[in-house]
Amino acid sequence: MFRGLLINKDDDTYSAGLADIDEASLPEGEVTVDVEYSTLNYKDGLAITGKSPVVRKFPMVAGIDFVGTVSDSQSDEFKVGDKVLLNGWGVGEVHWGGLAQKAKVPAKWLFQVPEGMASRQTMIIGTAGYTAMLCVQALEEQGVMPDAGEILVTGAAGGVGSIALFLLAQRGYSVVASTGRVESETAYLKSLGATEVMDRSVLSEPGRPLGKERWAGAVDVAGSHTLANVCATTRYGGVVTACGLAQGMDFPASVAPFILRGVRLIGVDSVYCPMPKRLRAWEALSQEWKAERLGELVEEIGLSEVVEYGEKILSGKVRGRLLVDVNR
Ligand SMILES: NC(=O)c1ccc[n+]([C@@H]2O[C@H](COP(=O)([O-])OP(=O)(O)OC[C@H]3O[C@@H](n4cnc5c(N)ncnc54)[C@H](OP(=O)(O)O)[C@@H]3O)[C@@H](O)[C@H]2O)c1
Repeated sequence: MFRGLLINKDDDTYSAGLADIDEASLPEGEVTVDVEYSTLNYKDGLAITGKSPVVRKFPMVAGIDFVGTVSDSQSDEFKVGDKVLLNGWGVGEVHWGGLAQKAKVPAKWLFQVPEGMASRQTMIIGTAGYTAMLCVQALEEQGVMPDAGEILVTGAAGGVGSIALFLLAQRGYSVVASTGRVESETAYLKSLGATEVMDRSVLSEPGRPLGKERWAGAVDVAGSHTLANVCATTRYGGVVTACGLAQGMDFPASVAPFILRGVRLIGVDSVYCPMPKRLRAWEALSQEWKAERLGELVEEIGLSEVVEYGEKILSGKVRGRLLVDVNR
């Protein structure tokens, strides 16, 4: 038996709670992993509370990412004792996930923990940090370099936002942080490298099709009016990466920024991102991340606290990342 966070749905009743689960009921997969850490991402919050139809098969073990040690392997690629990492591929949505002491998954979803990184570090970064790196790499692939001008990061005090801000500042970009928590988080955001901190209300209300040009690039986690206003205020030829929906799934925008200013809107998906691209992102994270900075943006919780924190992350009360020790 192992402990896990099980989500159930019977008729109209949706529930999430700790359960003792029989190992024999683990899903199909060539590799079994003793999970050490998982994390709590915004999407896990949606899954645990049932506020959005993230989970599409029941019962479901929650958790969209994990790190751990291989305990059994039917694959030539992994052997018992290997430290492995997983982000996405539908775990915690359609395949049992990482908020549990054990996981069993297809080998092709796993990769070795990057050299020089401890397992705990990989999950402080987690899916949020890996997504942040995908956004940074997308900006650079589109030609937005540090001398291009100001880069805006929305939801800057959250997981993706904090790490995107840090990575961009480390690479020499001038980064403006947009947050709903100016009073409490300005010092934190400046310590991560923000040159300026702005209140998210400037961008979150319905706006005009075009505004004053400011951003050379942007990392947006909010969607909705925020994303529309970010596009409307991006400079000629600038690039906006969109990865989230913290304000909403809608996109109440006009085509004006795209057809009059040549603004490019780049979608970023971490879940089904091809393996070479995710390995490139993790390789860069392993080299650029300063281990000593990780402590500033993490709160560690046990598996038994996850349900309570699922509500908190959706209400925007979490700073940085939530690391989950699945063995306590
Ligand atoms: N595409 C992908 O593959 C992928 C991967 C990871 C995450 N995501 C998405 O990215 C988003 C952020 O994820 P996360 O893990 O960083 O979540 P998080 O830690 O909860 O951060 C989200 C942040 O968004 C801001 N926010 C909350 N409500 C808002 C609102 N109504 N309007 C504008 N901003 C709001 C808050 O930051 P402030 O307090 O600083 O304003 C909050 O901390 C989520 O929508 C998540 O689903 C997508």
